[in-house]
Amino acid sequence: MCSEYAHFVDINDYPTEKWEEIFSKAHTIKEFLKNFRSNDFSEKVMATLFFENSTRTRLSFQSAMTTMAGDIIDLGEHSSINKGESLKDTIKMVAGYSDIIVIRHKYAGAAKVASMYATCPVINAGDGEHFHPTQTLTDLFTLSEEKHTFSNLTIGVCGDLKLGRTSHSLCRALSLYPNNHFVFIPCDGLEMPDDICDFILKHNCTYEVVKTIEEKIDTFDVLYMTRIQRERIEYNYDLKNFILTKQSLKTAKKDLLILHPLPRNEEISVEVDEDERAFYFKQATNGVYARISLIKMLLDHKEQTELFQGEVMALECNNRNCISRHEKYLPHYFVKTEKGFRCEYCDHINNGLD
Ligand code: NCD
Repeated sequence: MCSEYAHFVDINDYPTEKWEEIFSKAHTIKEFLKNFRSNDFSEKVMATLFFENSTRTRLSFQSAMTTMAGDIIDLGEHSSINKGESLKDTIKMVAGYSDIIVIRHKYAGAAKVASMYATCPVINAGDGEHFHPTQTLTDLFTLSEEKHTFSNLTIGVCGDLKLGRTSHSLCRALSLYPNNHFVFIPCDGLEMPDDICDFILKHNCTYEVVKTIEEKIDTFDVLYMTRIQRERIEYNYDLKNFILTKQSLKTAKKDLLILHPLPRNEEISVEVDEDERAFYFKQATNGVYARISLIKMLLDHKEQTELFQGEVMALECNNRNCISRHEKYLPHYFVKTEKGFRCEYCDHINNGLD
């Protein structure tokens, strides 16, 4: 199945050169906007469809659009999805009202489904526990500004690595650069999924798993903190080893970059905000420039996009949170891999074991 438009559903939809082009433009735009206004997006309309909670992502997309003199239509909470309208019908209709669609949804693969039916570009603003590629653009843009490299880094990733979609997209992105080493510090029972670990190794990067932040903090160039996704899971384990404090930063490098996609819960004590290595609020601001640059790229280029690599099969994906389990009209696309059949909506490997 092919689409006539360029979409941004998975960070790995584009080669690293394309991301770097986005960052370089984002940097220029950031500098330019310090002194001038821009009307680059005038006469363009963005539809923001957020079926899950959002502060930063929704507002940074809206800010990106209005800063460039574009318009926004927002679905709000009272859409016809509540009347049983399918995602397909919603998207076909919204595409008639807009030039670009931004979607956040609770099911993995929802943005891909939107890209199947939209007659305009679609941006994935987070699909369930799957991916969050524009957060990764924000994270990498911050890295490019503060570290000037994406290679030879030791990256600590702490918190809910199982359900936190931002760490999935981040690891998949940084694995494409040479000599990166990931140190995972997952909260109990919230380990990084196998497919992400396999992806890291397949791309010749490495990872290890440790039990506390302090264990390896002295080796980190970047520390990526994440919160427990309590809206997806009930969680009552002790978090003491997974909280970043002033004390735990004692042995950290002077130029450590502390990142967090936000919102923060208890995983970073507020005292850390004063530390000059805390970059999470600057990171959130950078999200606007990274997104302006992405929107520009997608509005400027119309290109044929192949949406699926595999084939339609008479199988059902075993992931209960896969969009194909909830939107019944969807063809079931799978790719055969060594480990089983990979669902092309949510990337779950179906091997008969779950
Ligand atoms: C993240 C998300 O929605 O996945 N937030 C964001 O977009 N900045 C992280 C989170 O909610 O924990």
